[in-house]
Amino acid sequence: MLSEKMQAAINAQIQHELYSAYLYLAMSAHFEASNLSGFAKWTRMQANEEQEHSMKLFDFINDRGGRVKLEAIAQPPFEFGSPLEVFEQIYAHEQKVTSLIHKLYETALAEKDYPAQVMLHWFIDEQVEEEKNSGDIVAQLKMVDQHMGNIMYIDRHVGKRAED
Ligand SMILES: [Fe+2]
Ligand SMILES: [Fe+2]
Repeated sequence: MLSEKMQAAINAQIQHELYSAYLYLAMSAHFEASNLSGFAKWTRMQANEEQEHSMKLFDFINDRGGRVKLEAIAQPPFEFGSPLEVFEQIYAHEQKVTSLIHKLYETALAEKDYPAQVMLHWFIDEQVEEEKNSGDIVAQLKMVDQHMGNIMYIDRHVGKRAED
């Protein structure tokens, strides 16, 4: 059985993951409108992943006999900057999510909730991947500066991301 504190903390993370999905979807719409279909595809796939993350937590609460409580999801931004600015925003966002996951893990430690600790190992690994992926794209976009031909090359490359 989940403690009240653990349950509330996981429910809060469900909201964070769904906001992440919403944010990536807004970015995807921005890239679609900018005719950068590779970045649009990448951010859309991220949106799907974030939704899967929320469902992992949703299932965990239910499997433990807890009660899922969905909170309101904030409106994501509508206007975004250059591809570099968007990916810098993504990188910063993922760093923030990493710190939220670590805090959640600290709660699991304090609550002596061993199943939650094991479940959160997956999220801790996932955040290493998330920061690496977005950080790599930031580095690539910085290398080419604002040169449109090169940005389009990276867009195509990023769009080839396999359905992993
Ligand atoms: Fe996530
Ligand atoms: Fe993420």
